[in-house]
Amino acid sequence: MSDREWWKSAVFYQIYPRSYADSNGDGVGDLPGITAHLDHLNDGTPHSLGVDAIWISPFYRSPMADFGYDVADYRDVDPVFGTLADFDRLLAAAHEHDIRVIVDFVPNHSSDRHPWFVESRSSRTNPRRDWYVWADPAPDGGPPNNWQSRFPIGSAWTLDGTTGQYYLHSFLAEQPDLNWWNPEVRAEMEATLRFWLDRGVDGFRIDVAHMMLQDPDLRDNPEPLTIESRRMDEDWPEVHEIHRSWRRLLDSYGDRMAVGEVWILVPERVARYYGEANDELHLAFNFSFLRQPWVASAFREATDQFESLLPVGAWPDYTLSNHDVHRARSRYDSTADGGRGPAGLARARVAAMMLLTLRGTPFIYFGEEIGQADAEVPPERALDVEGRDPERAPMQWAPGAGAGFTTGDPWLPIGSEADRVNVAAQRDDPASMLGLYRRLIWYRKGSAPLLRGSYRSLDAPEGVFAFVREADGESLLVALNFTDAAARFDADGASDGAVERRGHVELSTDAVRHTDVEVSLAPLILGPNEGVVVRLAQAGT
Ligand code: NOJ
Repeated sequence: MSDREWWKSAVFYQIYPRSYADSNGDGVGDLPGITAHLDHLNDGTPHSLGVDAIWISPFYRSPMADFGYDVADYRDVDPVFGTLADFDRLLAAAHEHDIRVIVDFVPNHSSDRHPWFVESRSSRTNPRRDWYVWADPAPDGGPPNNWQSRFPIGSAWTLDGTTGQYYLHSFLAEQPDLNWWNPEVRAEMEATLRFWLDRGVDGFRIDVAHMMLQDPDLRDNPEPLTIESRRMDEDWPEVHEIHRSWRRLLDSYGDRMAVGEVWILVPERVARYYGEANDELHLAFNFSFLRQPWVASAFREATDQFESLLPVGAWPDYTLSNHDVHRARSRYDSTADGGRGPAGLARARVAAMMLLTLRGTPFIYFGEEIGQADAEVPPERALDVEGRDPERAPMQWAPGAGAGFTTGDPWLPIGSEADRVNVAAQRDDPASMLGLYRRLIWYRKGSAPLLRGSYRSLDAPEGVFAFVREADGESLLVALNFTDAAARFDADGASDGAVERRGHVELSTDAVRHTDVEVSLAPLILGPNEGVVVRLAQAGT
């Protein structure tokens, strides 16, 4: 892999800036707060997490109807997060820590308070009218077609009284869709990308990268709308042209990258966003793990499927959580106590090993590295229209009232486990989740099979997901027990060459299992909810 392809071997870490670290006591996280915690992310030693890149969710000027995904100025920092100078300091400090920085780019829609939309809605003849998607009412005065917003549930059209036309908003009415058929919009947004590239960012996470363009004739979506339907309001063929143009732009800067959020449930369609000639997105988020029940065969199938669908030369990626879904720790909990039981935590450990040993770029959501659970958010403190507050609750740094996140009143409640589950409590505990994440990440950095090796899943007993990674004559077996009972697995055929009876345990999710020891492969015994990485004897040894 060349240096231009740093993103293939990098471990990414997503920071939701409102919730990471508050430096000024206003209860909301900010950019200086992130800068102050870079040592946690990577101080160059295995005492830190060791991530290679961060993706920062939007910090641009915004009325916060969708907490930053409603942008009112694409080229400035919202005062709640700091200033552009704070951003520059963060970027420089991150680079000194060997951490690349990608920023969120939200091209599909702006805020309704963006000056462009204020102008656009002011009259039908305003020069910016065509920067958004306006349409006449249907003959009965209702919306122009049957398109629905993704949230809240309802029509994607809102009637604007001043001019008597409807405007399109695929999300909130406060998030009008930009008109990407308009070349002026494309030019302006490309200039925005250059603005951040020239500041030195290493790339972009692109919000709803499969949207932007819709049927220019505004035809109805088929009804009923199914996963397979040819929708008129997203995944429109010409959107690929836009991605090709952005790829050319990024390539002209050398080593910059883009990862796109392609929230389509059909993986074949997601894979197309890499481009037929690998000339579109560097990575399209693979969200398949967010939807799998905690069943080994489901994860195996999702992985094998994505591997087989990708165009030749395209690189996979995986993620367990983000700011839009419940945290893995809570999702995987099977006990009745709402994500607090040992099962969720034990499973999250197995999931971490899976994430960091599969072939592809891993994305870690902040807090996963300590096994943070969703917070309980009582109805009177709910803020998000979509109910996504629990997974967005503040990072748990330390015990105490503000969990080390803030000295003020946190914008969302702190998780109820924060006094126990926090960075300070885990920092020196090798048995902790943080200890496990660190071991996995630092081991990965030095492992050719994990960084760039081939991937092959194995037939394993029910409840076990096992695969082999191979590179440079070195083979690693990863065996993950998804069940609460011990598992036996005849793994002596795992290596492609001679039948090996023994392997060498490199890593285990089980805090008390001995690693760095020889182990039988016939059978390999896995403890309940245990994952292991076993080095198979090298060819010729
Ligand atoms: C996807 C983002 O991840 C989500 O948080 C946001 O609400 C929508 N796009 C709209 O921008």
